[in-house]
Amino acid sequence: MIAPAKINLYLHVAQPDDRGYHPLQSLVVFADIGDEIILQPKAYGEELNLRIDGPFGEGLSPGEDNLVVKAVRRFEQAAGMRLAADIRLTKNLPVASGIGGGSADAGAVLHLLRGTYAPDMPDADLEALAGAVGADGVMCLWAKSAIAEGFGEKLTPVSLPSMPAVLVNPGVECSTPAVFRQYDAEDGFQNIDAKQPFFDISSPSALIDALETTRNDLEAPAIALRPEIADVLMVLNAQPETAFARMSGSGATCFALCRSDDEARTLSRRLEGLMPRAWVRACRLS
Ligand code: C5P
Repeated sequence: MIAPAKINLYLHVAQPDDRGYHPLQSLVVFADIGDEIILQPKAYGEELNLRIDGPFGEGLSPGEDNLVVKAVRRFEQAAGMRLAADIRLTKNLPVASGIGGGSADAGAVLHLLRGTYAPDMPDADLEALAGAVGADGVMCLWAKSAIAEGFGEKLTPVSLPSMPAVLVNPGVECSTPAVFRQYDAEDGFQNIDAKQPFFDISSPSALIDALETTRNDLEAPAIALRPEIADVLMVLNAQPETAFARMSGSGATCFALCRSDDEARTLSRRLEGLMPRAWVRACRLS
């Protein structure tokens, strides 16, 4: 099963609550590329075994702190069973990169676990398990374009045109808590406009016009911690195929929206030459 990359087309972040969590509003879409998860049930009495491979698998812990294992443990609790299974995670997406990889992996494994062990488990129960894994757990479980509000868990589905895009990660990890702390330190809290979600998103050009009126409030704090992000955005904005460029989530992955798949492929090839150390992928977002 594919665990697709999540992209925040915009991300508005307000002042944190007493727990330090930030109310937010975001338009999230999903790519046609992602990590891959395979689940193979084993004989009763055997252990859970997570094996990680793929270009970004190295150094990733397969232990209890892995979001896939956390999701399995929550599922075991909810379903009242101890699982014996081999899980293989092929990590194609850069880690700690603002595109929801770990949450998407958790969401995919929850779908596989329900399908195998508890087909009658209601969606609401599965959603609660995904939400317990992290603030973007629910959006990554359903992997459908939506306006996310609350702390990221309240979703209103939206129908969007499918858009050619290029994703670029400069090869530096970005810690989400550190970026939020930097946002707090800059003390320029933004307000969330309740009317924002209802802008015209009926065509790619209308969507891009609308996005020009929005922000990613974590872009400046992420750049303060990782200046490489500013370089990526500068390069993206200088390319003729880029219709719109921004950072996703808490970074460091940035995206460029393009007008056609051909332009996205041309752009991605050129970027690979311009930024040989970066991770660059042409894809479609929807
Ligand atoms: O929920 P998750 O573990 O993915 O969040 C990682 C960190 O991001 C939290 O510890 C918190 O510092 C920050 N966060 C936040 N407000 C949100 C979501 C995440 O402050 N709405």
